[in-house]
Amino acid sequence: MSQLKFPPGFLWGASTASHQVEGGTHNNWSDWETSPRRLAQLKKDGLITRYGKDNFISGVAADHYYRYEGDFRLAKKLGHTATRISIEWSRIEPREGHFDTKAIHHYKSVISSIRNNGMEPFVTLWHWTVPLWFRDKGEFQNKKNAVYFARFAERIASELADVTFWITLNEPDVYTMHGYLDGTWPPQEKSLIKTLTVYRNLIYAHRLGYEKIKKANQAARVGIAKHNIYFEAYQGRLWNVLLKRLIDWGWNCYFLNQLSGAQDFIGLNQYFHNRINGRTNQNENLKISDMGWELYPEAVYYALRDLRKYRVPIYITENGLADGEDRQRLWFIKETLKNVHRAISEGSDVRGYLHWSLMDNFEWDKGFWPRFGLIAIDYATQKRTPRPSALAYREFCQDNGFEE
Ligand code: FCB
Repeated sequence: MSQLKFPPGFLWGASTASHQVEGGTHNNWSDWETSPRRLAQLKKDGLITRYGKDNFISGVAADHYYRYEGDFRLAKKLGHTATRISIEWSRIEPREGHFDTKAIHHYKSVISSIRNNGMEPFVTLWHWTVPLWFRDKGEFQNKKNAVYFARFAERIASELADVTFWITLNEPDVYTMHGYLDGTWPPQEKSLIKTLTVYRNLIYAHRLGYEKIKKANQAARVGIAKHNIYFEAYQGRLWNVLLKRLIDWGWNCYFLNQLSGAQDFIGLNQYFHNRINGRTNQNENLKISDMGWELYPEAVYYALRDLRKYRVPIYITENGLADGEDRQRLWFIKETLKNVHRAISEGSDVRGYLHWSLMDNFEWDKGFWPRFGLIAIDYATQKRTPRPSALAYREFCQDNGFEE
């Protein structure tokens, strides 16, 4: 047995996103959740019978908007030294150009609470939800709409002046694919042209946001949270290698390649491995989560290795699994961290690990049933209960490592 130690100052914690935990949001997603089109589809697919309608409506969620103080105290007790949240744009700017000072004050208190509990805040500005007026303008389908996002970014960066780590965009890839290509998420478009347009406009939105945040706060470190997948060319066969290179470039590299000079760090969201053998997704699936996602902790090693070329520090801003019974979470975290450690020992500059998620939450189109939390939520009572894996993870956080 050997002791795996992480670099001094390595940050340990977990992530959340406003719409998934706060409750009471009024944005493009909450509107979609109760739209006739969405409800009819759920009914048709038998999902309302299976999970109940409430599963699919974010509603009060984990009521984190009112319970954040207790939640951050708990995170501290669980050994965390960092936490990632997102700012709900629809609260800050419910009407175009009208900034709600109460909402701004709320997030100032949230940041103070994080700091008072000894944690470093990571703040995401766009975790997929937008105000209704921005949706009605066509969101990021129109390049010029990026200025609205940048204005919001600038305002928040100047108000929350003591925040160092800023994430402009969360997973532009996943959002664009589901919102514009396969049409499963709002705004439910299925158009390759729109997909490519939105993807490119998000690059522009990031670059504008980056400039504005830096202008408002020179000490800010700004990046995106990028969902990178380990594409494996099975047995190195030529066709698999060619396909891998193409997909790897399109999915993992294209966006990041456009950010040079405008990213101080990379936030890595790492969940997937995709084995290419003639076709994509030929995984063995030896272990899977409650959602059927393959659990393949080696993937993070390859994802980190491939990000080395960008020569900026990396924070793992998401990594986790739906595991209601908490049977695999500890194993998964530990194996993932071993792979992170291996990447660090080979030269990757990884400076923190934020598990997804701090608490159970509203998993987008799937709703509440997937349980991603280190902390379990009883939605009937809003009682918080750390899962056993959270207690074991606390030891890793406190010891800055663990016995292998
Ligand atoms: C990521 C999202 C996050 C959460 C996890 C499970 O793609 O960024 O909000 O839903 O997946």
